[in-house]
Amino acid sequence: MGSLTRAEEEETAAAEEWSGEAVVYVNGVRRVLPDGLAHLTLLQYLRDIGLPGTKLGCGEGGCGACTVMVSCYDQTTKKTQHFAINACLAPLYSVEGMHIITVEGIGNRQRGLHPIQVTGEAEYTDDTPTPPNTLHAALVLSTKAHARILSIDASLAKSSPGFAGLFLSKDVPGANHTGPVIHDEEVFASDVVTCVGQIVGLVVADTHDNAKAAANKVNIEYSELPAILSIEEAVKAGSFHPNSKRCLVKGNVEQYFLSGACDRIIEGEVQVGGQEHFYMEPQSTLVWPVDSGNEIHMISSTQAPQKHQKYVANVLGLPQSRVVCKTKRIGGGFGGKETRSAIFAAAASVAAYCLRQPVKLVLDRDIDMMTTGQRHSFLGKYKVGFTNDGKILALDLDVYNNGGHSHDLSLPVLERAMFHSDNVYDIPNVRVNGQVCFTNFPSNTAFRGFGGPQAMLIAENWIQHMATELKRSPEEIKELNFQSEGSVLHYGQLLQNCTIHSVWDELKVSCNFMEARKAVIDFNNNNRWRKRGIAMVPTKFGISFTTKFMNQAGALVQVYTDGTVLVTHGGVEMGQGLHTKVAQVAASSFNIPLSSVFISETSTDKVPNATPTAASASSDLYGAAVLDACQQIMARMEPVASRGNHKSFAELVLACYLERIDLSAHGFYITPDVGFDWVSGKGTPFYYFTYGAAFAEVEIDTLTGDFHTRTVDIVMDLGCSINPAIDIGQIEGGFIQGLGWAALEELKWGDDNHKWIRPGHLFTCGPGSYKIPSVNDIPLNFKVSLLKGVSNPKVIHSSKAVGEPPFFLGSAVLFAIKDAISAARAEEGHFEWFPLDSPATPERIRMACVDSITKKFASVYYRPKLSV
Ligand code: FES
Repeated sequence: MGSLTRAEEEETAAAEEWSGEAVVYVNGVRRVLPDGLAHLTLLQYLRDIGLPGTKLGCGEGGCGACTVMVSCYDQTTKKTQHFAINACLAPLYSVEGMHIITVEGIGNRQRGLHPIQVTGEAEYTDDTPTPPNTLHAALVLSTKAHARILSIDASLAKSSPGFAGLFLSKDVPGANHTGPVIHDEEVFASDVVTCVGQIVGLVVADTHDNAKAAANKVNIEYSELPAILSIEEAVKAGSFHPNSKRCLVKGNVEQYFLSGACDRIIEGEVQVGGQEHFYMEPQSTLVWPVDSGNEIHMISSTQAPQKHQKYVANVLGLPQSRVVCKTKRIGGGFGGKETRSAIFAAAASVAAYCLRQPVKLVLDRDIDMMTTGQRHSFLGKYKVGFTNDGKILALDLDVYNNGGHSHDLSLPVLERAMFHSDNVYDIPNVRVNGQVCFTNFPSNTAFRGFGGPQAMLIAENWIQHMATELKRSPEEIKELNFQSEGSVLHYGQLLQNCTIHSVWDELKVSCNFMEARKAVIDFNNNNRWRKRGIAMVPTKFGISFTTKFMNQAGALVQVYTDGTVLVTHGGVEMGQGLHTKVAQVAASSFNIPLSSVFISETSTDKVPNATPTAASASSDLYGAAVLDACQQIMARMEPVASRGNHKSFAELVLACYLERIDLSAHGFYITPDVGFDWVSGKGTPFYYFTYGAAFAEVEIDTLTGDFHTRTVDIVMDLGCSINPAIDIGQIEGGFIQGLGWAALEELKWGDDNHKWIRPGHLFTCGPGSYKIPSVNDIPLNFKVSLLKGVSNPKVIHSSKAVGEPPFFLGSAVLFAIKDAISAARAEEGHFEWFPLDSPATPERIRMACVDSITKKFASVYYRPKLSV
């Protein structure tokens, strides 16, 4: 606190006379700027003076994480002017004499903070105070997509200011090979690099800037080798990750296509672009040796502290019991910090261990984007047989995902995609073949939905293709083919508690679909160059890790004699509200206020072998583990409680303590009845499904390809939500992230389609060239409802998982855009099916709206190039 009122600001500024000192006013406090700060940005200065609420998100003015308000007095108008500026771009000297309000200073002295304002006090990894002898690390990265390393010359780096060391593969004390499933990736590339951005070395220096400068001076000589830079090239060359071929079969597809039962058969191809995670907090870790290197401790921004512990133990050759990773909270993860973060911790730990000094590694946004992998791009090739009435009879589908240069989680991602390739549709005969492509790109990885959205997008494409063939509305064809209670899915799972019909029906009423259609037709009839479109999209998302052993969770509950409770569980708080939900479980178990329960951090020395916070399952898993621990403690307390001599929980606890009752318990939970056998291709990979549906209406400008989303209406079945406010926030956030994937965010890689980019390099490695959703992309009308009167008896408090399921609903915007494009094409006499790749960026929308201008340059089926 400490900001000034406007009157005070104007008075102060007017009264200020040049004193010969350079000053700024930060949150109302006058600060004299010492000499020698000319190189600093305002952001660096604010963080250096202990105001970490202003964050470094991108460093290029595109993310807004560093926004502050600047006020200055205009001598001409005699008025104070206020601006929101990006502190990452503002040189410190440019705000000399001005008033800066940071997030810590929002509000005013009279009224204090608004209840919904954040204070900026929450500490993230980069905000953690470092020990005085901490070294800062920067990565030496490969600049070639595929090449043999001939030599590494560090002579210039060694004479760089502040240089403290360079670490390469030869310096690794333990194993250099690592990976979450298969150890097929080197922490430091030794002889051959297999993608641009692969770690070759790590430089440590006294400051972050000096470390970067020294790393840039490491000169590597390469001999280039041929590179595979797309799914198509990989398929042609047979470049696949070993043992990554999968197949799921139901019925007999071949026979059905030959039998003549299908009135129509269509074929097509769907390309689905990748997506950058763009978590606000970049990959960060602080590693330090303890007890002369007998132990290693770290604080990391990760969804999986246990993976950091494992990777670091492996690379240092230490037992896991001597390595501790702690995570208090992270500024977003979305899957990008499930596995890919661990390799950076491992690299930093080598320097910390060898030098016996703390080492901090925080990636700049461009480095983060070009090295850490993204959502997998996919290619789907389909053949669908159906009747003239619109009933699907057979689906033959080939799916490929772009795994990148290491295995990472690409096979489980592909498997989940194959499970979700039916979306919500009942298909009597299915064959899905899948394979993970090896390409010379950074390893693609987990991302909200884990392959499910890509497969559902392919499904929504072929069902729309069917509808166009039949000249019927896609919504009609979808409804006609919905799965129902008792449907047997193409991997053998029996559908139970299926609520897709209720969700869909409620949405249809809520969005008034028939009226919306009439209004859109009316608008389109009266506008030649602007068109509106609508779409409804359903989703069914399987909840559980498809690898059975991962469906386990541990928790530690400690009750103190003042009646307060400390909970530690294996899940990580990344802004999704997990700790709040888990604390609610503990509070309701002990029947105490939520304020009596505290969750401090996630730590590998409190709860061992934790499963990553992923697969939307953490509330289910850790909520149940905490419940188990609470119930154990309650059972131990029961003999004392039954005497009825206490007036409060604190009194009861104290009485138990005096009777020598153990007030700490480890809770454990495993998800029952799940498992899948890839040999038979049958099983029950999911404990249950979360259902949802979304309606979207958009308006496009057919001459520029610009669009905006007018309305979005979402209905989801979340059972009895533990915390509706959190869940609705998750739905809104998931939808917007899905909208970004489907219609805004395009990754452009140096590949055959983009020869102007150096091979294997990422062009779009910052928000200046990579369009993330912003406030202007929020639908003008945005409504979210939870299906009422439903429960989920399988899960704690009858709730349902929410993290990933809403993501795919963002594709409703893509299909609404396509609907609007169809109206534009109809004006030119084109009524047939046309492909629209995702993301549906303005370039794609414009070129799909064929008219006399586009026809001069391209065919009516022109597809702008996409990195896939
Ligand atoms: S850090 Fe300044 S806008 Fe992203």
